[in-house]
Amino acid sequence: MALNRLREACDVDLYTGAAAMPREDLAARIEDKQGIVCLLTDRVDRDIIDRAPALRVIANVAVGYDNVDATYARERGIAVTNTPDVLTEAVAEFTWGLILALTRRIGEGERLLRRGEWRGWALDFMLGMELSGKRLGIVGAGRIGQAVARRAPAFGMHVVYTGRARQSDARPPMPEGSRRVSFDEVLVTSDVMSLHIPLTPETRHLMDQRAFARMKRTAYLVNTARGPIVDEAALAWALDERLIAGAALDVYEREPAVEPVLLQRENVVLAPHLGSATRETRTAMSDLAVDNVLAVLSGRPPLTPVT
Ligand code: DGY
Repeated sequence: MALNRLREACDVDLYTGAAAMPREDLAARIEDKQGIVCLLTDRVDRDIIDRAPALRVIANVAVGYDNVDATYARERGIAVTNTPDVLTEAVAEFTWGLILALTRRIGEGERLLRRGEWRGWALDFMLGMELSGKRLGIVGAGRIGQAVARRAPAFGMHVVYTGRARQSDARPPMPEGSRRVSFDEVLVTSDVMSLHIPLTPETRHLMDQRAFARMKRTAYLVNTARGPIVDEAALAWALDERLIAGAALDVYEREPAVEPVLLQRENVVLAPHLGSATRETRTAMSDLAVDNVLAVLSGRPPLTPVT
Protein backbone atom coordinates (compact mmCIF):
# COMPACT_ATOMS: atom_id res chain seq x y z
CA MET A 1 0.00 0.00 0.00
CA ALA A 2 1.29 3.44 -0.99
CA LEU A 3 0.80 4.97 2.46
CA ASN A 4 2.73 2.18 4.18
CA ARG A 5 5.66 2.62 1.82
CA LEU A 6 5.66 6.32 2.57
CA ARG A 7 5.49 5.68 6.32
CA GLU A 8 8.44 3.30 6.14
CA ALA A 9 10.58 6.07 4.63
CA CYS A 10 9.26 9.30 6.15
CA ASP A 11 7.35 10.87 9.02
CA VAL A 12 3.88 11.23 7.55
CA ASP A 13 1.29 13.81 8.57
CA LEU A 14 -1.93 12.39 7.14
CA TYR A 15 -5.08 14.43 6.60
CA THR A 16 -8.05 12.13 7.12
CA GLY A 17 -11.00 14.50 6.66
CA ALA A 18 -13.74 13.33 4.30
CA ALA A 19 -13.99 16.64 2.46
CA ALA A 20 -11.15 18.56 0.81
CA MET A 21 -8.51 19.75 3.25
CA PRO A 22 -9.29 23.27 4.51
CA ARG A 23 -6.78 25.77 3.17
CA GLU A 24 -5.75 27.08 6.64
CA ASP A 25 -5.09 23.50 7.69
CA LEU A 26 -2.85 22.93 4.66
CA ALA A 27 -1.01 26.21 5.23
CA ALA A 28 -0.38 25.36 8.89
CA ARG A 29 0.65 21.76 8.32
CA ILE A 30 2.97 22.31 5.36
CA GLU A 31 5.38 24.61 7.27
CA ASP A 32 7.95 21.99 8.22
CA LYS A 33 7.37 19.54 5.35
CA GLN A 34 9.80 18.44 2.63
CA GLY A 35 7.20 16.77 0.48
CA ILE A 36 3.49 16.96 -0.10
CA VAL A 37 1.15 14.44 -1.72
CA CYS A 38 -1.82 16.53 -2.78
CA LEU A 39 -5.12 16.08 -4.56
CA LEU A 40 -6.74 18.19 -7.26
CA THR A 41 -8.93 19.69 -4.53
CA ASP A 42 -5.84 21.19 -2.82
CA ARG A 43 -4.81 24.56 -4.22
CA VAL A 44 -1.03 24.65 -3.85
CA ASP A 45 -0.37 28.21 -4.92
CA ARG A 46 2.41 30.70 -4.28
CA ASP A 47 1.11 31.54 -0.77
CA ILE A 48 1.05 27.92 0.28
CA ILE A 49 4.46 27.22 -1.27
CA ASP A 50 5.91 30.24 0.54
CA ARG A 51 4.75 28.75 3.83
CA ALA A 52 6.99 25.72 3.27
CA PRO A 53 10.66 26.72 3.15
CA ALA A 54 11.86 23.10 3.28
CA LEU A 55 9.60 21.85 0.50
CA ARG A 56 11.35 19.73 -2.17
CA VAL A 57 8.52 17.93 -3.94
CA ILE A 58 4.83 18.46 -4.68
CA ALA A 59 3.30 15.18 -5.87
CA ASN A 60 -0.16 15.76 -7.31
CA VAL A 61 -2.37 12.68 -7.41
CA ALA A 62 -3.89 13.57 -10.78
CA VAL A 63 -2.68 14.04 -14.31
CA GLY A 64 -4.06 17.60 -14.42
CA TYR A 65 -2.06 19.98 -12.22
CA ASP A 66 -3.83 23.30 -12.68
CA ASN A 67 -4.28 23.31 -8.87
CA VAL A 68 -0.51 23.69 -8.40
CA ASP A 69 1.52 26.79 -9.25
CA ALA A 70 4.13 24.71 -11.06
CA THR A 71 5.92 27.75 -12.50
CA TYR A 72 6.54 29.24 -9.08
CA ALA A 73 7.50 25.86 -7.62
CA ARG A 74 10.08 25.45 -10.39
CA GLU A 75 11.49 28.91 -9.65
CA ARG A 76 11.88 27.79 -6.04
CA GLY A 77 13.61 24.56 -7.13
CA ILE A 78 10.73 22.37 -5.99
CA ALA A 79 9.86 19.35 -8.14
CA VAL A 80 6.22 19.06 -9.21
CA THR A 81 4.95 15.67 -10.34
CA ASN A 82 1.66 14.30 -11.64
CA THR A 83 0.25 10.86 -12.45
CA PRO A 84 0.11 10.44 -16.23
CA ASP A 85 -0.43 7.13 -18.06
CA VAL A 86 -1.81 5.16 -15.13
CA LEU A 87 -5.27 6.74 -15.48
CA THR A 88 -5.50 6.91 -19.27
CA GLU A 89 -7.57 3.77 -19.86
CA ALA A 90 -9.93 4.44 -16.94
CA VAL A 91 -10.72 7.95 -18.14
CA ALA A 92 -11.14 6.76 -21.75
CA GLU A 93 -13.54 4.01 -20.65
CA PHE A 94 -15.51 6.49 -18.58
CA THR A 95 -15.67 8.95 -21.47
CA TRP A 96 -17.27 6.28 -23.61
CA GLY A 97 -19.69 5.52 -20.80
CA LEU A 98 -20.76 9.15 -20.90
CA ILE A 99 -20.98 9.21 -24.71
CA LEU A 100 -23.28 6.19 -24.68
CA ALA A 101 -25.37 7.42 -21.73
CA LEU A 102 -25.82 10.76 -23.47
CA THR A 103 -26.60 9.69 -27.01
CA ARG A 104 -28.83 6.77 -25.94
CA ARG A 105 -30.52 8.69 -23.10
CA ILE A 106 -29.68 6.06 -20.48
CA GLY A 107 -29.82 8.36 -17.43
CA GLU A 108 -32.99 10.01 -18.62
CA GLY A 109 -34.62 6.64 -19.28
CA GLU A 110 -33.65 5.29 -15.88
CA ARG A 111 -35.01 8.35 -14.11
CA LEU A 112 -38.32 8.00 -15.95
CA LEU A 113 -38.54 4.31 -15.13
CA ARG A 114 -37.77 4.87 -11.45
CA ARG A 115 -40.49 7.52 -11.31
CA GLY A 116 -42.93 4.82 -12.48
CA GLU A 117 -43.67 6.68 -15.71
CA TRP A 118 -42.76 3.98 -18.21
CA ARG A 119 -45.87 3.01 -20.18
CA GLY A 120 -44.17 0.22 -22.17
CA TRP A 121 -42.32 -0.24 -25.46
CA ALA A 122 -43.26 2.12 -28.28
CA LEU A 123 -41.77 2.55 -31.72
CA ASP A 124 -40.91 6.22 -31.28
CA PHE A 125 -40.16 6.22 -27.54
CA MET A 126 -36.97 7.95 -26.28
CA LEU A 127 -35.08 7.81 -29.53
CA GLY A 128 -31.40 8.61 -29.35
CA MET A 129 -28.59 9.04 -31.84
CA GLU A 130 -26.74 6.07 -33.29
CA LEU A 131 -22.95 6.41 -33.13
CA SER A 132 -22.14 4.27 -36.14
CA GLY A 133 -21.11 6.37 -39.13
CA LYS A 134 -20.93 9.57 -37.06
CA ARG A 135 -17.97 11.86 -36.43
CA LEU A 136 -16.16 12.01 -33.10
CA GLY A 137 -14.25 15.25 -32.57
CA ILE A 138 -11.42 14.99 -30.06
CA VAL A 139 -10.05 18.25 -28.69
CA GLY A 140 -6.55 17.42 -27.45
CA ALA A 141 -4.58 14.50 -28.84
CA GLY A 142 -2.61 13.62 -25.70
CA ARG A 143 -2.69 10.24 -24.01
CA ILE A 144 -6.35 10.37 -22.98
CA GLY A 145 -7.55 11.88 -26.25
CA GLN A 146 -5.73 9.10 -28.09
CA ALA A 147 -7.19 6.39 -25.85
CA VAL A 148 -10.71 7.73 -26.44
CA ALA A 149 -10.08 7.93 -30.19
CA ARG A 150 -8.65 4.40 -30.25
CA ARG A 151 -12.02 3.05 -29.10
CA ALA A 152 -13.99 4.92 -31.77
CA PRO A 153 -13.70 2.30 -34.55
CA ALA A 154 -15.39 -0.21 -32.24
CA PHE A 155 -18.48 2.02 -32.48
CA GLY A 156 -18.06 2.74 -36.20
CA MET A 157 -17.15 6.39 -35.56
CA HIS A 158 -14.77 8.49 -37.65
CA VAL A 159 -12.30 10.65 -35.74
CA VAL A 160 -11.14 14.21 -36.26
CA TYR A 161 -8.86 15.79 -33.69
CA THR A 162 -6.93 18.88 -32.73
CA GLY A 163 -3.37 18.99 -31.44
CA ARG A 164 -0.29 16.93 -32.11
CA ALA A 165 -0.75 13.20 -31.56
CA ARG A 166 2.64 12.07 -30.30
CA GLN A 167 3.30 8.34 -30.46
CA SER A 168 4.00 6.99 -26.98
CA ASP A 169 4.09 3.24 -27.69
CA ALA A 170 4.16 0.84 -30.63
CA ARG A 171 0.56 1.59 -31.62
CA PRO A 172 -0.35 4.35 -34.07
CA PRO A 173 -1.51 7.26 -31.90
CA MET A 174 -4.79 7.76 -33.72
CA PRO A 175 -6.99 5.21 -35.52
CA GLU A 176 -6.55 4.75 -39.24
CA GLY A 177 -8.42 7.34 -41.27
CA SER A 178 -8.45 9.97 -38.48
CA ARG A 179 -7.69 13.52 -39.52
CA ARG A 180 -6.01 16.36 -37.66
CA VAL A 181 -8.11 19.49 -38.21
CA SER A 182 -8.59 22.96 -36.75
CA PHE A 183 -10.57 23.52 -33.57
CA ASP A 184 -13.20 25.26 -35.67
CA GLU A 185 -13.58 22.23 -37.93
CA VAL A 186 -14.08 20.01 -34.88
CA LEU A 187 -16.73 22.45 -33.61
CA VAL A 188 -18.58 22.71 -36.88
CA THR A 189 -18.50 19.09 -38.04
CA SER A 190 -18.52 16.81 -34.98
CA ASP A 191 -21.54 14.77 -33.95
CA VAL A 192 -19.90 14.10 -30.59
CA MET A 193 -17.17 16.41 -29.34
CA SER A 194 -14.99 15.31 -26.43
CA LEU A 195 -12.56 17.55 -24.53
CA HIS A 196 -9.14 16.21 -23.51
CA ILE A 197 -6.97 19.26 -22.93
CA PRO A 198 -5.46 20.67 -19.75
CA LEU A 199 -6.90 23.75 -18.08
CA THR A 200 -4.65 26.74 -18.82
CA PRO A 201 -5.37 30.46 -19.18
CA GLU A 202 -5.78 29.78 -22.94
CA THR A 203 -8.29 26.93 -22.55
CA ARG A 204 -10.43 28.51 -19.80
CA HIS A 205 -13.91 28.99 -21.30
CA LEU A 206 -12.77 27.59 -24.65
CA MET A 207 -16.36 26.42 -24.92
CA ASP A 208 -18.13 29.78 -24.72
CA GLN A 209 -21.27 31.11 -26.41
CA ARG A 210 -19.44 31.64 -29.68
CA ALA A 211 -18.17 28.06 -29.71
CA PHE A 212 -21.57 26.56 -28.91
CA ALA A 213 -23.15 28.64 -31.67
CA ARG A 214 -20.73 27.02 -34.17
CA MET A 215 -21.71 23.44 -33.24
CA LYS A 216 -24.26 21.34 -35.11
CA ARG A 217 -27.70 21.53 -33.52
CA THR A 218 -27.66 17.72 -33.37
CA ALA A 219 -24.22 17.53 -31.71
CA TYR A 220 -23.28 16.46 -28.19
CA LEU A 221 -20.48 17.79 -25.97
CA VAL A 222 -18.57 15.63 -23.48
CA ASN A 223 -16.16 17.03 -20.87
CA THR A 224 -14.01 14.75 -18.75
CA ALA A 225 -11.04 17.16 -18.68
CA ARG A 226 -11.45 20.20 -16.41
CA GLY A 227 -14.66 22.08 -15.62
CA PRO A 228 -13.60 25.66 -16.39
CA ILE A 229 -12.82 24.73 -20.02
CA VAL A 230 -16.60 24.94 -20.44
CA ASP A 231 -18.43 28.15 -19.58
CA GLU A 232 -21.36 26.49 -17.78
CA ALA A 233 -23.60 29.54 -18.17
CA ALA A 234 -22.92 29.49 -21.92
CA LEU A 235 -23.68 25.77 -22.02
CA ALA A 236 -27.00 26.35 -20.22
CA TRP A 237 -27.77 29.09 -22.77
CA ALA A 238 -26.88 26.81 -25.70
CA LEU A 239 -29.18 24.09 -24.35
CA ASP A 240 -32.02 26.57 -23.79
CA GLU A 241 -31.58 27.88 -27.34
CA ARG A 242 -31.40 24.27 -28.63
CA LEU A 243 -28.06 25.03 -30.26
CA ILE A 244 -26.76 21.57 -29.34
CA ALA A 245 -28.50 18.26 -28.58
CA GLY A 246 -26.99 17.65 -25.16
CA ALA A 247 -23.93 17.44 -22.96
CA ALA A 248 -22.22 15.05 -20.57
CA LEU A 249 -20.03 16.48 -17.83
CA ASP A 250 -17.76 14.80 -15.31
CA VAL A 251 -16.09 18.05 -14.24
CA TYR A 252 -17.43 21.48 -13.28
CA GLU A 253 -16.39 25.09 -13.03
CA ARG A 254 -16.90 25.29 -9.26
CA GLU A 255 -16.82 21.70 -8.01
CA PRO A 256 -18.80 20.37 -6.24
CA ALA A 257 -21.34 23.04 -7.26
CA VAL A 258 -23.14 22.60 -10.58
CA GLU A 259 -24.86 25.30 -12.61
CA PRO A 260 -28.51 24.90 -11.46
CA VAL A 261 -29.94 25.04 -15.01
CA LEU A 262 -27.93 21.95 -15.91
CA LEU A 263 -29.45 20.02 -13.02
CA GLN A 264 -32.89 20.61 -14.53
CA ARG A 265 -32.08 19.41 -18.02
CA GLU A 266 -32.88 15.85 -19.12
CA ASN A 267 -30.44 16.05 -22.04
CA VAL A 268 -27.45 16.56 -19.73
CA VAL A 269 -25.61 13.64 -18.14
CA LEU A 270 -23.89 14.69 -14.91
CA ALA A 271 -21.23 12.64 -13.14
CA PRO A 272 -19.37 13.58 -9.94
CA HIS A 273 -15.77 13.70 -11.30
CA LEU A 274 -15.39 9.93 -11.61
CA GLY A 275 -13.15 9.71 -14.70
CA SER A 276 -10.24 7.95 -13.01
CA ALA A 277 -12.29 6.37 -10.22
CA THR A 278 -11.50 2.67 -10.52
CA ARG A 279 -9.80 0.71 -7.76
CA GLU A 280 -6.98 -0.23 -10.14
CA THR A 281 -6.31 3.30 -11.31
CA ARG A 282 -6.60 5.10 -7.98
CA THR A 283 -4.18 2.55 -6.49
CA ALA A 284 -1.75 3.12 -9.36
CA MET A 285 -2.09 6.92 -9.02
CA SER A 286 -1.33 6.75 -5.30
CA ASP A 287 1.65 4.46 -5.88
CA LEU A 288 3.08 6.75 -8.54
CA ALA A 289 2.70 9.85 -6.37
CA VAL A 290 4.49 8.10 -3.50
CA ASP A 291 7.24 6.86 -5.83
CA ASN A 292 7.77 10.44 -6.96
CA VAL A 293 8.09 11.69 -3.38
CA LEU A 294 10.46 8.89 -2.41
CA ALA A 295 12.60 9.50 -5.48
CA VAL A 296 13.03 13.22 -4.85
CA LEU A 297 13.57 12.88 -1.10
CA SER A 298 16.26 10.29 -1.67
CA GLY A 299 18.06 12.50 -4.20
CA ARG A 300 16.89 10.76 -7.38
CA PRO A 301 15.04 12.46 -10.27
CA PRO A 302 11.24 12.30 -10.08
CA LEU A 303 9.59 9.65 -12.26
CA THR A 304 6.92 11.86 -13.78
CA PRO A 305 7.82 15.53 -13.42
CA VAL A 306 5.44 17.97 -15.06
CA THR A 307 7.12 19.65 -18.01
C1 DGY B 1 -6.94 13.92 -13.20
O1 DGY B 1 -6.08 13.10 -12.90
O2 DGY B 1 -6.64 15.03 -13.64
C2 DGY B 1 -8.35 13.50 -13.04
O3 DGY B 1 -9.22 14.54 -13.23
C3 DGY B 1 -8.53 12.83 -11.71
O4 DGY B 1 -9.71 12.11 -11.73
